[in-house]
Amino acid sequence: MRILGIESSCDDTAAAVYDGSAGLLSNVVSSQVSVHEPYGGVVPELASREHIRSIVPVVERALAEAGTLPAQVDGIAVTAGPGLIGSLLVGLCFAKSLAFAWDRPVCGIDHLEAHIFAILLERQVPFPYVALLVSGGHTSLFRVEDFESAALLGGTRDDAAGEAFDKAAKQLGLGYPGGVLIDRLARQGDLGSIPFPRAWLSPDSADFSFSGLKTSLRTYLASREGRAARVEDIAASFQEAVVEVLVGKTLSAAGRERIPRVVLAGGVSANSRLRERIEEEGKRAGTEVYLPSRALCTDNAAMVAFLGERRLSAGRASGPDLNAYAASRFSR
Ligand code: KG4
Ligand code: ZN
Repeated sequence: MRILGIESSCDDTAAAVYDGSAGLLSNVVSSQVSVHEPYGGVVPELASREHIRSIVPVVERALAEAGTLPAQVDGIAVTAGPGLIGSLLVGLCFAKSLAFAWDRPVCGIDHLEAHIFAILLERQVPFPYVALLVSGGHTSLFRVEDFESAALLGGTRDDAAGEAFDKAAKQLGLGYPGGVLIDRLARQGDLGSIPFPRAWLSPDSADFSFSGLKTSLRTYLASREGRAARVEDIAASFQEAVVEVLVGKTLSAAGRERIPRVVLAGGVSANSRLRERIEEEGKRAGTEVYLPSRALCTDNAAMVAFLGERRLSAGRASGPDLNAYAASRFSR
């Protein structure tokens, strides 16, 4: 089947075309970074308005780049949740209207599920695998049995890792979005210069906590030592504290589950230090590490179209009651 995927859960308007035989034909993302930058974070109302402005040109571009006419689209997949309700509703209403006008089935897709299967667009990963989904809104570990069954092993008890990066960048006066900026600065810094705390919680816990780290950064910046430190060193040390816990807990979970395979997903998995360290430590632990390309780490519609193709091929279209939801069954 040839599926048009639509994603608008947060601040990216995205559309993609995926074909069950020919693979990914297009993957278009329109970012709203410049709209939200002055506010230091996503402003939900502005995000919804921006989606309304972008959705038609983004879908038209995805179809054009895929060389696909509406008549060649067999179905539509759309992110139904979790996310910002106003943002989700723009994509969802648009997808349902297209499905009605084109007389095609529509399938609502869970954004978190789409992330944890995104790797399969590029690599063949045998089931089962352990997936670390690490983004601005989520930091969770899953045991992924197959396309239908993913079990939550643990998740963050407070801030998500991406949120920790974004808030740290704000405290450092770096701007928005913070993850990429910290990643870039950290390359020139000494990652062992400031001993920021690591929240391991109990030894076997697959849960995360990053709010203490954020407070510890604030306390450090207010100290005399903090005011004198190089921002590159602070960025590198902060990043190391996040990365060490993400890598340690992911590989421990894989060990406990007796699964020698881990997959990364979500915006933070674009972090260069996280990618480097999990590959190194995975090798040492005898665990195969699968990293999606950066375009498939951050929000995109390719992952939505891909999962939608599987669901619609199996005849699992959504009904007319398909609606947006803010919290997922995979959320904690
Ligand atoms: O998956 P995503 O695009 O959106 C959702 O949250 O669903 O993730 C965005 C998050 C932001 O917090 C951003 O700062 C973070 O991913 N991020 C990074 C990097 N690139 C994006 N964090 C650390 N290092 C990066 N290179
Ligand atoms: Zn996401």
